[in-house]
Amino acid sequence: MRDILPEDSARLTLIEDTFRDVLQSYSYEEIRLPVLEAKDLFDRGLGEATDAVSKEMYSFEDRDGTDLALRPEGTASCARAIVNHSMAHEDKPRLWYAGPMFRHERPQSGRYRQFQQVGAEAFGYSGPAIDYELMSVGTDVFGRLGILDEITLLLNNIGSAAERALYRGALVEYLLPIEDDLDSDSRHRLKANPIRILDSKNSRTQEILEQAPPIEEFVSQESNEKFAAVRRLLDGANIEYQITPRLVRGFDYYTDTVFEWVTDKLGAQDAICAGGRYDGLIELLGGKPTPGVGFAAGIDRIAILLEQCEGSSKYDKADVYIIAHSDEQQEYVAEVARQVRRHTNLRVREHTESGRMGAKMRWADKSGAKWALIAGDAEAAKREVTIKWMRVEREQTTVSFDQVVEVLSENWEK
Ligand code: HAM
Repeated sequence: MRDILPEDSARLTLIEDTFRDVLQSYSYEEIRLPVLEAKDLFDRGLGEATDAVSKEMYSFEDRDGTDLALRPEGTASCARAIVNHSMAHEDKPRLWYAGPMFRHERPQSGRYRQFQQVGAEAFGYSGPAIDYELMSVGTDVFGRLGILDEITLLLNNIGSAAERALYRGALVEYLLPIEDDLDSDSRHRLKANPIRILDSKNSRTQEILEQAPPIEEFVSQESNEKFAAVRRLLDGANIEYQITPRLVRGFDYYTDTVFEWVTDKLGAQDAICAGGRYDGLIELLGGKPTPGVGFAAGIDRIAILLEQCEGSSKYDKADVYIIAHSDEQQEYVAEVARQVRRHTNLRVREHTESGRMGAKMRWADKSGAKWALIAGDAEAAKREVTIKWMRVEREQTTVSFDQVVEVLSENWEK
């Protein structure tokens, strides 16, 4: 678990704000869910054999002897809330959430034990248009963030739980005689969770999988037809994707459509956003049968990707840095700061300490501000301010108090 320092935090906020804006434009509503849940929710919802539950969950007994867990993801909590509040049928809710998730994984760049997700989940919709809609939301967000060229949308149809059980049998039958050729992780998975072997990053295992029976052959015609309809909708919206027959997901709740945006810029932690359908989850948690579909984006990873795309652009803390020549003008510059904050969205930082003018200007420069607003005795006496463009050489002007906001607003591009 790490500290997120201001520069990284600003990037996370930008990404979360973009998700919020786009999700609201699709009329998704925000839901806030607890960070702690009954451990049993994840045992049942995600599956006890999954890595997230069997190896990575932060779980403990609380003072009442209840088994609790820090949530490793948000879908199970969201589904639990739908059941608890009987929301599915009246509302067919389309929800989004943001917050920290916890997994005891081996930390490395892009993989943390506490990480931030924004998720979206739609309940009560079984048609292909909602699958498409969620991928359209993601595409809009990544477009606004300017990273569409860096990522690829992978898509697969993994069928129903019953179909997957048949497929699991066929996969085990194919792999068992050549078990010794698999990597050790995959050998272990052969017993616990064989379908996850498809996810193996081991090249020899991947070679072996080339000849494995394809999941598509085990999926019903109805499901394949719906999947074709999802693809037609994506084609119609010019959303590019790659059908990836070996794309499987890490939790047991998935059914039919699954998808993942990946990038080749982040090494092994290549997935930045992932999701799919989970038509049996609500029923599994005690609700009436209700289809569900959603995704969750890994904000920390998207931030690393954004940082790489930005190159060396400079981080700034403020737009306007306000300086009193000496302590006598401090009240006057506080009034100027109030005026700018009240009438603009600019980030205004006041120099609040006594000191020499040179040092104050260095602080103004360090803040990354576009403008320094300076008041000395003469300016304060005439209720004027000197506006200095910090990034344009020798550019400055002295204006009256009432003109400051106008001059800043009109010269944003300069
Ligand atoms: P997930 O694939 O486990 O799916 O996680 C979604 C995203 O969270 C990943 O693609 C990745 O970007 C990010 N992520 C996961 N683990 C870490 C980590 N240790 N450090 C940093 N980022 C991480 C889910 O969580 C499902 N609930 C998604 C979903 C929603 N499916 C349907 N609805």
